Amino acid sequence: MSGDKTVLVAYASAHGSTRGIAQAIAERLTQAGLHADVRAIADSDGVDSYDALVLGSAIHNRAWLPQASAFLRSHASGLAGRPVWLFSVSSVGETSSFFGPRLSRFVQRVRRDTPEMAGFRRTVALRDHRDFAGVIKASHWSRLGDLFMKAFGGTYGDHRDWRDIDAWADGIARRLEDEPPRHAT
Ligand SMILES: Cc1cc2nc3c(=O)[nH]c(=O)nc-3n(C[C@H](O)[C@H](O)[C@H](O)COP(=O)(O)O)c2cc1C
Repeated sequence: MSGDKTVLVAYASAHGSTRGIAQAIAERLTQAGLHADVRAIADSDGVDSYDALVLGSAIHNRAWLPQASAFLRSHASGLAGRPVWLFSVSSVGETSSFFGPRLSRFVQRVRRDTPEMAGFRRTVALRDHRDFAGVIKASHWSRLGDLFMKAFGGTYGDHRDWRDIDAWADGIARRLEDEPPRHAT
């Protein structure tokens, strides 16, 4: 039964939007009858007591935050034997974006399976990876970031698509319901 399964939803967030997405995913998993712990990656000490993991990071300079990629590396052996879902929070999600449709489509195309994500795939039993758009304020980044935003017609604000986030979490819950329970090793 899914209620016996425990999932760690761990996140790395600089300004809070990734944390909000992790909390929404955990809430959705809980509603589906799973036991979901939501934690900052920096406060998560291990993976051994979990049946499955959902790990997410904000993207800075086209990469996961260092504490998130370090967590994947340092828990590689525990993660290898468990189902893992990853999500990345950046300027361009699958269904919403800081930018208009043309630039968003271009970004979606060029970032498909980045070297970083390909490395994660080699490390963990990855079930799925999803990109979500997050939140941006002018005060979050340098003048260069602001210039980039203006040059490409970006919009400041909260671009999270909660329906997409909930739907992704519901898909995880369904997959876990179908999984046989993990046997203690
Ligand atoms: C310093 C900085 C660098 C960023 N670099 C990128 C990037 O390379 N690509 C991208 O798509 N978004 C980038 N973003 C946008 C963030 O990924 C986005 O604002 C996200 O919602 C941040 O998550 P957080 O609120 O959990 O920190 C950057 C934001 C900041 C503040």
